[in-house]
Amino acid sequence: MAQGIPEEIIDEIRQRTDLVTLVGEYIKLECRGKNMVGLCPFHSEKTPSFTVSPDKQLYHCFGCGASGNVFSLIMQMEKMTFPEAARFLARRAGVRIPEPEKRTSGEENYKEKIYRLNLMAASFYAYCLTKSNTGKKALDYLQKRGINGSTIETFMLGYAPADWTGFFNFARKKGFAPEMMVKAGLVSPGKEKGYYDRFRDRLIFPIANISGKIAGFGGRTLSEGDKSGPKYLNSPETPVFEKGLMLYGLNLAKEEIRRLKSAVVMEGYTDMITAYQAGIKNVVASLGTALTAEQGRLLRHQAETVITAYDSDAAGEAATWRGLAILQRTGCLVRVAEMPAGSDPDSYIRGKGADSFKTLLDRAKPLMEYRLAVLKERYDLISEKGRIDYTEELMAFLNAAVNQVEQDHYLKKAAEVLNVEEEALRQELKRRRRTGTRRREQPEGGIKTFPDRDKIVRAEKILLSLMLQSKEIAERGRNLLEPEYIKDERIREIVEAIWHYSAGEVTCSAEKLLNRFSDPQTTKLITEAATDPSMQDLSSRTAKRMAEDCFWELKQSWENKKRTELVNKLKELEASGTEEEITEFLRKNRNILQCQDSGSYRNGKGGDFND
Ligand code: UTP
Ligand code: MN
Repeated sequence: MAQGIPEEIIDEIRQRTDLVTLVGEYIKLECRGKNMVGLCPFHSEKTPSFTVSPDKQLYHCFGCGASGNVFSLIMQMEKMTFPEAARFLARRAGVRIPEPEKRTSGEENYKEKIYRLNLMAASFYAYCLTKSNTGKKALDYLQKRGINGSTIETFMLGYAPADWTGFFNFARKKGFAPEMMVKAGLVSPGKEKGYYDRFRDRLIFPIANISGKIAGFGGRTLSEGDKSGPKYLNSPETPVFEKGLMLYGLNLAKEEIRRLKSAVVMEGYTDMITAYQAGIKNVVASLGTALTAEQGRLLRHQAETVITAYDSDAAGEAATWRGLAILQRTGCLVRVAEMPAGSDPDSYIRGKGADSFKTLLDRAKPLMEYRLAVLKERYDLISEKGRIDYTEELMAFLNAAVNQVEQDHYLKKAAEVLNVEEEALRQELKRRRRTGTRRREQPEGGIKTFPDRDKIVRAEKILLSLMLQSKEIAERGRNLLEPEYIKDERIREIVEAIWHYSAGEVTCSAEKLLNRFSDPQTTKLITEAATDPSMQDLSSRTAKRMAEDCFWELKQSWENKKRTELVNKLKELEASGTEEEITEFLRKNRNILQCQDSGSYRNGKGGDFND
């Protein structure tokens, strides 16, 4: 029994929940043979390695190793405990969980309770807006803004009455504890006594997460220029509401986003709603803040292209640039739609119509191009100072390019703008690299020196498994490999530990290793390697064969990488070095530069297995 939920109920939930459908609520899946694949929701990637098996009802990510069933998916996606996830799925599947004798601690389905409370609050506000007299002026306001009845329903828009305890009293009658309402950010404790509503006399925009659960609220003031608080008051951070993790409207827009493979990001609630009502349904709102990596990932899972349609004043701000760069780094193709000064998508669509807005979207410029254009506007390129400042910013910007090809492309363009030799700019960029202005982080979607990294990591995992089974294989690995041949840092550490331990008589056991590492990802790697079903009961001969293949792959891929580096270095030398330097360089690196034939290590250090 999982904390009060009987085993047979867990089974029933499992049977009634289809993993493919469930995963489909978060990411887009495509058929591949017997399986479905998509971009892993748990880590950033550009090519799908998240695999769902409809037969086995299991998922596995070959990129980050996440794996499990419907329950673990919800635990990971919704950050829930097992019982929370079980209740979440039970509700979804229409399975009733019998209440245990003694009420279990509030803790376990705590988030679920907040969601339930939020849903109740949303219906309360919706009722106030559409069915009560108090909501009349808010309803008029919406009508004036052109938001129609069916849109009000779709977005569950509402009105929070002006009196201080309207919601509190209602929720109390429904049996919710005041502490819970505080946790959900819907009421605050009064200074002296009692509680009062957070949202008063405001238009209410419930904010749903990707699966449609209401996580928080935005409340817009109805009196323009009012000093009694901000224009929009949002829910505070709660266990289910983190602003940087949400995209307003994603639950409604995701289907269209997937269909069109593109998403339009706007700033405001009303922008998103107006666009959606006008039939442009692949839209979300970022809620006024700069985009975060989590939001980027959320979008990347649904779309290839992301078009931003920000108010023209916000578009130039540093925070906006940073947000867009983050978005780009998650692997999205980012394009920027230029809004005319003084308008936002909402006012533009209402003024000029949806078709005209679509034209703006069609004309959106790729992020880098747009940025280059803005840079050019900003500096006076006739003056010396202007040119220096421009170059300064340009360098930072080129460094952020996603890959070499893109960098080259913009370098050419910049050279044109400045009317200087392309090569001069290239040298400048190189000089900066050398003098320590190196970029701190590689862009996530950067050029891979190594297109087959996944394959290599797979080989590394197999080796790990084999080394844990056989002292002989571990020994052979130590003779054959250098630690740096192992790409994955965690695996490298583990392998080094194995080499350390297997110096004696016995095979290093996984159990022993586990005591040594505390990082959960590392321990997971060890457990997986030790229990991988496909690696059990291998004959010693097969195990050695497999190991030999893996050694070979690692060694070869390391050499390839090294060779590419050396060839690049050589090109540089050929351009700028002396004849002597070049000869010396060639002599020193002859081994690697020449060894195209990959079997060479077999004659290298260490003997062969003799079986
Ligand atoms: P805007 O000021 O552009 O509002 O802020 P808007 O969406 O155009 O609203 P209308 O059209 O005047 O009704 C953009 C977004 O920034 C967030 C909100 O999410 C808003 O939709 N914001 C703005 C806040 O959270 N708090 C504020 O005080 C202002
Ligand atoms: Mn607006």
